[in-house]
Amino acid sequence: MFPKDFLWGAASAAYQVEGAYLEDGKKESIWDRACRVPGRVAHGETGDVSCDHYHRFREDVALMKEIGLKSYRFSVSWPRVIPDGAGAVNEKGLQFYSDLVDTLLENGIEPMVTLYHWDLPQALYEKGGWKNPESPRWFEAYARAVARRLSDRVRYWITFNEPQIFIGLGLHLGAMAPFERNDDDTVLQISRHFFLAHGRAVSALREEAGRPLMIGMAPTGDVYLPESGSAEDVEKARRASFAVAPGAFTMGNSWWADPIFLGRFSEDAERLFGDRLPCFTPEEWACVSQPLDFYGFNVYQATTRFPAPADGYQDHAYQGSPKTSLDWNVTPDVMYYAPKFLYERYGKPIIITENGMAGMDWVSLDGRVHDMQRIDFLHRYLLALERVMDDGVPVLGYHHWSIMDNMEWARGYDPRFGLIHVDYRTQQRTLKDSARWYARVIRTNGESLAAPDQI
Ligand code: BGC
Repeated sequence: MFPKDFLWGAASAAYQVEGAYLEDGKKESIWDRACRVPGRVAHGETGDVSCDHYHRFREDVALMKEIGLKSYRFSVSWPRVIPDGAGAVNEKGLQFYSDLVDTLLENGIEPMVTLYHWDLPQALYEKGGWKNPESPRWFEAYARAVARRLSDRVRYWITFNEPQIFIGLGLHLGAMAPFERNDDDTVLQISRHFFLAHGRAVSALREEAGRPLMIGMAPTGDVYLPESGSAEDVEKARRASFAVAPGAFTMGNSWWADPIFLGRFSEDAERLFGDRLPCFTPEEWACVSQPLDFYGFNVYQATTRFPAPADGYQDHAYQGSPKTSLDWNVTPDVMYYAPKFLYERYGKPIIITENGMAGMDWVSLDGRVHDMQRIDFLHRYLLALERVMDDGVPVLGYHHWSIMDNMEWARGYDPRFGLIHVDYRTQQRTLKDSARWYARVIRTNGESLAAPDQI
């Protein structure tokens, strides 16, 4: 059963949908820059125009209303609001988000703001970015500027989206902007700045807001599934899901979440790094681990076994197993075990901040987009979510990734994750069948999940 006030939502991120590359005072982010380096992004594509959400947000909010969304999670572009990253605030940039918030509220949709979804101002990158010990203060000032303008109307806030990706893949393994490979000790230093930036931003949000806010973070992270329902197998999966793996420690859950939610590093982390772990004074620990209101989680597929077993298939995958167009495994049970494990360890209500799949979606001759696989995906994952809620895990909301097809980072525009199809040549939007199906789920507050798929 879904509670009456369940936040049925969908999500996006500034760089992926907005376009308006250098408009109204915005300056470059590290993604704007990365797109211009040959070979970084598929087909040499950029976010310069993307879905043009910056200009078409009213039309997009009207479509959200048609779907019946209760919540829209979007991110603010730091270089739009503070073009040089630190210093002068760009009023026009803030105005855009203020207008978006007003339009959402007029349509009965709760805005959920992510402060950082990977688009670091290029100017700050040139000063060392997250390696610079000043970075927590830069982020705090930015959070303050956004909060000052929006916190009278925005109640739900997320500091960071997926440190696993922007630090792990961006600054450790070199697969996302700014495409850097750094050694573990540098990444430990970056982690320290990340934790302080998060803590300082939380304080700034609470100080600026004249009312109680709901603040969280939106990490992703490896979640393993038990091989059976036995207590032993569940415990094995739980332990693996919170392990800190040598070489891939930035990909896990506990590396990022334990300091923030528990105020300490895990035993695994202590074992791995000993006295190389970042040091915090008691005041800094208090800032890093000040209480949050929810645990946001981005969840797509269960983690596969590493290293891959001899048969060439990984855990939860088998010959002919269901996969999305990005080859990600379809593993609905992860929507049961992820909230369960995270709630047991951190004790916070969960908000699913992202979940979805990339499909080969196009507009059919009849003018519709028949994405039956997304419907089935959504159906299975939502049933698993309902099951874990029935087992007592509080879940406040679910956000489908994404509201519309968009710029899938280094993969460009080929993967289509949206509930709404976007024709990038004409900016024509088309509600996919999954959007109509989701609309019915929302209308019935999840009761239609018990029935066979209908659109
Ligand atoms: C990110 C999104 C991304 C999605 C699909 C998440 O890791 O937060 O920005 O588009 O996954 O790859």
